[in-house]
Amino acid sequence: MIRGRLITLEGGDGAGKTSQLGLIRSLIRARGVSLLETREPGGTPLSEAIREWVLSGGADPPDPVAELLLVFAARRQHWVRRIEPALESGTWVLCDRFVDSTYAYQGSGRGLPWGWIETLEHWVLGPHGRPDLTLYFDTPVDQALARVRERGHLNRIEREAPDWHEHVRAGYRARLEEDPDRFIRVDAGLAREQVQAALEDALVRRFDTWQGNAPAPVGSGPG
Ligand code: TYD
Repeated sequence: MIRGRLITLEGGDGAGKTSQLGLIRSLIRARGVSLLETREPGGTPLSEAIREWVLSGGADPPDPVAELLLVFAARRQHWVRRIEPALESGTWVLCDRFVDSTYAYQGSGRGLPWGWIETLEHWVLGPHGRPDLTLYFDTPVDQALARVRERGHLNRIEREAPDWHEHVRAGYRARLEEDPDRFIRVDAGLAREQVQAALEDALVRRFDTWQGNAPAPVGSGPG
């Protein structure tokens, strides 16, 4: 059995990843693979309940460290119950947000040390947690936040100040610099049709490089 591919979608709030989901889905399906679509925080009943705590906050919003631990608790459950079994069975996984969100939001946004996140990442995901590909939707913060406001109700994180969201964007950019081969940066501030064309071109080219370069069979190496 050939292990499935893990593809993640990342970007600041209102960056426009959701509007390209249909295209991404259809390009993956065109490869003839089975696909699991999921999201973080979330993806299992427990993880979706944790998502509520993280995003709504209520009368007792989590402090930054509690928030970090909550997203990783949700991630652990999601990883062992859904993502890892899917990858093991050869299914590709398309996950709306993953570990890069934590580096950007809890690390650069909340100001928690990236070293803590790295430790949790290895602890929670083990050796196979690095996505095969991450699509990073990059949009100027003022434009992205205007989109968020148009959508209406803002969650606890979306309500943070523009400066705070600039830190998140800087965090994403640092992640890209650290691991450029894993990312495709999508200039999502352009018109929708332009974004779509650039994304399609980049994705098709990336998938073509994977053909004949399949991941190692499950259980055959450290990964
Ligand atoms: P998202 O699903 O993109 O929200 P929406 O559908 O409203 O665009 O993301 C949920 C929020 O969770 C987003 O503001 C980022 C935040 N988040 C973190 O702070 N840390 C994380 O590790 C993850 C996965 C998400």
